[in-house]
Amino acid sequence: MGTKEVMASVFSGVARVYDRFVSLITFGGIHRWQRRLIELMGERENWLDVGTGTGEVLKKLKSSHLKVGIDIAPEMLRVAKEKCGECHFLVADGENMPFKDKSFDRISLSLVFRHLENQERFLKEAKRVLRKGGRVGLIDIRKFAGNKVLLLLMKTILLPIGLLIFGRDKWEFFIHSVENSFSLEEVEEIFRREGFRRVASETTFFGLVFIFVAELD
Ligand SMILES: C[S@@+](CC[C@H](N)C(=O)[O-])C[C@H]1O[C@@H](n2cnc3c(N)ncnc32)[C@H](O)[C@@H]1O
Repeated sequence: MGTKEVMASVFSGVARVYDRFVSLITFGGIHRWQRRLIELMGERENWLDVGTGTGEVLKKLKSSHLKVGIDIAPEMLRVAKEKCGECHFLVADGENMPFKDKSFDRISLSLVFRHLENQERFLKEAKRVLRKGGRVGLIDIRKFAGNKVLLLLMKTILLPIGLLIFGRDKWEFFIHSVENSFSLEEVEEIFRREGFRRVASETTFFGLVFIFVAELD
């Protein structure tokens, strides 16, 4: 299986317990962070949530006219549809979006950016589908000092148990997703190279999580 197929199968497999799991491991923080992300991005007419999962960001929007969520994991979207009747959900890849140029004012990614196969490819697509003054906003896990230790453990001591419980494809996906965390400086640089300027950046949850918003230059 390719990385994206593994990811879709991992998230589809946990769709029914996902909300409870994320609330639990973030001590409910995820809801605060998503509200803060929306506040920093500023609501506008057409909002796209990439890697929408169970649709929690869209559910928190108050005044956006069009609320669209895309994800590569169909089961996550099934849960999302049950939660947000006025939202539109479709199975689609954030790195190759099925939308016309200049369709959206805002694009959010909550806990998704580091999972993308190619961040630059996503940003090129974001640039294409965003209107003038469009913004992209992220919540994600920040690269931190403990990453290297955790990765070493996952590749050595934890490897046999990981392979036994999850199988090779999924365990490698977990390793890949820890390896792929970015520092705020790296995120800002990637956005800058693709023609965005930073509007806001904050850290929370003891510095482990960042919220970052950038606007098309
Ligand atoms: C950790 S979940 C986050 C879900 C939701 N945004 C939240 O904050 O709870 C990551 C989601 O991103 C989706 N995803 C990963 N890569 C994607 C891509 N290239 N295009 C669209 N969705 C993607 C996964 O299927 C998964 O549902």
